[in-house]
Amino acid sequence: MKDKKVLVVGGGGRCHAIVDALSRSPQVAKIWCAPGNAGIGLQAENVPLKDTDVPGLLAFAQREGIDLTVVGPEAALAVGIVDAFRAAGLRIFGHTQAATRIESSKEFAKQLMEQYGIPTAAYRSFDDFQEALDYVNARPFPAVLKYDGLAAGKGVVIAAGPEEAEAALRSMLLDEAFGKGRVVVEDFLTGPEFSFMAFVDGERVYPMPLAQDHKRAFDGDKGPNTGGMGAYTGLPFITDEDREFALHSILEAAAKAMCAEGCPLSGVLYGGLMKTPAGIKVIEFNARFGDPETEVVLPLLESDIYEIFEAVACGRPAAQPVWRDAVSLGVVLASKGYPGSYPKGAEIRGVDQVDAKVYHMGTRCEGDRLLTNGGRVMMVVAEGKDVRDAQRKVYAELGKISCDALFYRRDIAHVALDGRLLDGKALSATIKEELRERVGKLEIKYGRKPSLAVIIVGNNPASQVYVRNKVKTAIYVGMNSRLITMAEDASEESLLQMIDTLNRDPEVDGILVQLPLPKQICEERVIDAIAKEKDVDGFHVLNVGDLWLGRPCSVPCTPKGILRLIDESGLDLSGKVAVVVGRSNIVGKPVAKLLLDRHATVIIAHSRTKDLKSITLQADVLVVAVGRENIVTGDMVKPGAVVIDVGMNRNAEGKLCGDVDFVAARQRASWITPVPGGVGPMTIAMLMENTVECFLARVGQ
Ligand code: AMP
Ligand code: GLY
Repeated sequence: MKDKKVLVVGGGGRCHAIVDALSRSPQVAKIWCAPGNAGIGLQAENVPLKDTDVPGLLAFAQREGIDLTVVGPEAALAVGIVDAFRAAGLRIFGHTQAATRIESSKEFAKQLMEQYGIPTAAYRSFDDFQEALDYVNARPFPAVLKYDGLAAGKGVVIAAGPEEAEAALRSMLLDEAFGKGRVVVEDFLTGPEFSFMAFVDGERVYPMPLAQDHKRAFDGDKGPNTGGMGAYTGLPFITDEDREFALHSILEAAAKAMCAEGCPLSGVLYGGLMKTPAGIKVIEFNARFGDPETEVVLPLLESDIYEIFEAVACGRPAAQPVWRDAVSLGVVLASKGYPGSYPKGAEIRGVDQVDAKVYHMGTRCEGDRLLTNGGRVMMVVAEGKDVRDAQRKVYAELGKISCDALFYRRDIAHVALDGRLLDGKALSATIKEELRERVGKLEIKYGRKPSLAVIIVGNNPASQVYVRNKVKTAIYVGMNSRLITMAEDASEESLLQMIDTLNRDPEVDGILVQLPLPKQICEERVIDAIAKEKDVDGFHVLNVGDLWLGRPCSVPCTPKGILRLIDESGLDLSGKVAVVVGRSNIVGKPVAKLLLDRHATVIIAHSRTKDLKSITLQADVLVVAVGRENIVTGDMVKPGAVVIDVGMNRNAEGKLCGDVDFVAARQRASWITPVPGGVGPMTIAMLMENTVECFLARVGQ
């Protein structure tokens, strides 16, 4: 029977989505929303009461004979609206004040997770400034500092170094910027973040589809943090096993833990989760629907939301909700200037033409004109068969809205559509671990360790960094390593003599001369002076020759590492077009040869090749080794290509960058290497591997 009266507490886009879902219920006759907004007013009756005005809301609910009240914002929960309604015998969906601590107190949440084994970043909490500072300074940076309480999303500081940490602790603990409170200091985690929400009633958990928010204001996740600029469902980076783990070991575990603590949940539990290299961990819990996740999740609900809300409010079991098997994506329109200051009152046209859901966040009506009235103004949400489909629909509909005072991100869901990272840092770490084990066994078997001699001539600062890294890594994998330093003005003869000594030294397996060399020394002569079987770089003319003839040899480290990275993508090179931009003897040419060996069709070009774009656009695999920033732009990448960026340049801001416009290329590539962290670490790992191989050849294996 369509006879239920519902009061929704709150007013933003999230509440508009709740009201919209309730309006689809076959049981709901009338909806009120306090305070609501202009858009909500089209589907419900707005009530001019603040969301934290508990006595006012209670009186209203009693007067109107409301059957069920649904609470949106955390502020109302934290002041105890649920406790007050229940005490008055009214039915309400939302957590008690005690249960809301899972969001309102970071320390409570961290203690709960620690006690019940729910995975999260290691932490400690403090109320003393000096103790907090000492702890932070004794730990690696960046450090994460969280004010313990509701701070409207502004209570988290990621401090890159000691000065930032001190300033943040000073403001939180000494100046009491958010009031008197404690600070939680936790380890910095990395990985993609996502939101997992569920309706929870005691130990009963009814999960919703996963969603991802976009917190930064501008494209490419740049600019200041905001309340959320868009969201989507259908996250490609979360596997079914990930979801199962998060459901059982995080959401259900938290629900059980709260029961055990005597403050059972009875509303929405929001897990702000991160997929870290060490598994899925909790960044934060919220005690309410997420915003803007709710706006994309609830439209997919096929079940009657009133039924779920009422069951949870009454503490009786409900059927698992049914969700449409589609992807939902929403883009927020915000006032120019947001999250800083912005003007209000600009007219928005065309909203009535939009063939998608429009949830209002900050709007008001003046006659029949719709005006901006907040930072985030509205959100346009559409469904599709996949992320790309939903994205295309939303952006097409957004084109119908006109208002000069608004802006929006054009890349919502880019994480889902971007190429995946070929993470050379992670892969090289695995290879180094394997080598370390292998080297340990070799030492036992042969009574000595593989050993690498590294020669550096002069004091080129970049070369100094490289050689130190190589020596450090050799020691890390358990090899002997020797660093030989010669003066800037050393003669070619003295260098050749040194090489000769090392060639004859039975204890040395690998010799490497760091390039470039000072002008007075001929590089080619020096490289060819290294005994072929100790040439771990693979630059010796005889090694190069053997490589082209397909005979056993030291394969140059960078090309070898590049092939390993391509293999990581899972691409079968046979019959594919590979384009190598750059034709140096140590990268471009050997890479081409290795690709030919895998039966690819190889095209070598260089930076001045005419109409380079028409060539790179054919590439299933594109290897760029030129050494010039942005020589390959996004439009030069064939959609779905594997892109390997060998470049190492310093841009105008002094930051390391590759030869490829990473952000633009990633939107078309299926896989791409970052710079730094792609090819660079692989080169060093391959150097270690080559040293072990030279050792094995020399001990007669
Ligand atoms: P919170 O208010 O707890 O959601 O934190 C705000 C944002 O800070 C999160 O969405 C994360 O992007 C970031 N953050 C919080 N804690 C960590 C952490 N331990 N490691 C890395 N990033 C974090
Ligand atoms: N979307 C983040 C939140 O609702 O807290």
